[in-house]
Amino acid sequence: MIQFYTSDELQSHLTLLIKQGKALGFVPTMGALHEGHLSLIRRARLENDVVVCSIFVNPIQFNNASDLEKYPRTLEADLALLEPAGCDVVFIPSVEDMYPEPVKESFNFGYLDKIMEGKFRPGHFEGVAVVVRRLFEKVQPTRAYFGLKDYQQIAVVKSMMNQINSPVNLVPCEIVREPDGLAMSSRNVRLSAEARDRAPVIFQLLKSGRTMVANHSPAQIVEYVVSQFQLHPDFELEYFEIVDSETLLPLEAFSPDRSAIACVAVWLNKVRLIDNMLYSD
Ligand code: PAF
Repeated sequence: MIQFYTSDELQSHLTLLIKQGKALGFVPTMGALHEGHLSLIRRARLENDVVVCSIFVNPIQFNNASDLEKYPRTLEADLALLEPAGCDVVFIPSVEDMYPEPVKESFNFGYLDKIMEGKFRPGHFEGVAVVVRRLFEKVQPTRAYFGLKDYQQIAVVKSMMNQINSPVNLVPCEIVREPDGLAMSSRNVRLSAEARDRAPVIFQLLKSGRTMVANHSPAQIVEYVVSQFQLHPDFELEYFEIVDSETLLPLEAFSPDRSAIACVAVWLNKVRLIDNMLYSD
């Protein structure tokens, strides 16, 4: 596996591969790699000639300075995991390399970056879109792999790609869960042992809501799940919403022609966790 620390070196290497007609699979990450990331790398390995991964804790997508500061950084461990998973090239740029000048580009996501995650993390998706666009420009991947845990992020990245006519093929990949159901996340390592034991409540309540779909409205399920979270005072719920999986707008009724997804964000032990579950296809 080759490591590149600057865009220039990365691009000289990748340009040659692209000229040779190689298909490039790209997995953008912020490091603190876990099985969820590795599953993206393994999928990219199966579907491409060359697998590129980036590790960059993107400062402009953090709307909270302490969250940025506390974001886990485990570069040595990450590098040890990448090669066995099938990564050929890892790109580890500095902030100066990614942002040599103040960021000027902006996108119009309409309501998409103002609901759910966007409502609670203002500016977050703009920062994600800017960095993903820049990474795509540098890597020029054939396919890019994103985990469905960040469901709204995928919708925002798709919108950004439409706005710039990006030729990249975005591949959404299933959520990887711990055996007890907790969605894998780089933030999980920040949970105390006690909080880690409690965290699967999120998955359990998502599942409880899903069992109600056949004979309850989305509003009734939301009311029930919110009331269940209130029974667990260690969880501070930011939102639980059942939305149309295409538009991400709240659903008033389940119907066979619209797919529904439940999305949740909660604080537990000062760690913000998100998850989601399809409620109807
Ligand atoms: O999902 C993430 O880890 C980040 O938002 C991403 C896509 C690597 C951009 O910084």
